[in-house]
Amino acid sequence: MLNKKIAKLLNTQVNKELYSAYLYLDFANYYADAGLDGFAHWYEVQAQEERDHALMIRRYLINNGVKVEFLPIEKPDKAFKDHLAPLEAGYAHEQYVTSLITTIYHEAFEQKDYRTMQFLDWFIKEQGEEETNAEDMVKKMKLFGGDAKGLYALNQELAARVYTPSATGPQM
Ligand code: FEO
Repeated sequence: MLNKKIAKLLNTQVNKELYSAYLYLDFANYYADAGLDGFAHWYEVQAQEERDHALMIRRYLINNGVKVEFLPIEKPDKAFKDHLAPLEAGYAHEQYVTSLITTIYHEAFEQKDYRTMQFLDWFIKEQGEEETNAEDMVKKMKLFGGDAKGLYALNQELAARVYTPSATGPQM
């Protein structure tokens, strides 16, 4: 049985990951509306990954005897001034998610909950990748997105992203 505080933090994290999926689908809506189908696709794939993260944490809680409680998912209330803005918001959001995972990890360390620390190791690594990807998107957009040709090429590149289920995630 998990410590109550850790169980609560993880339960909240399920909601945060589902919100991330919701947020990225909202970005996809923005790009679809702007005619940038490659960008929209990239964020649709990202939303699938976020749902996987939520399901992994949900499964961990269930496997450890915790009753999962679903909380309301916040409305992604973002208005974007240009095509760069969602990418910057995405990068900021990933940094925020990293801080949430770090907080849970720290609590697990304090409680000597090595099992949860081991479970979260995958997420610590994943957040490193998530931040790098999000930052790369911002950099590329700044470098190449300034003219129609560059934007078109970038859109094509992002359209090629393939969804890979996070099957290698922790099963504990
Ligand atoms: Fe589930 Fe993008 O972090």
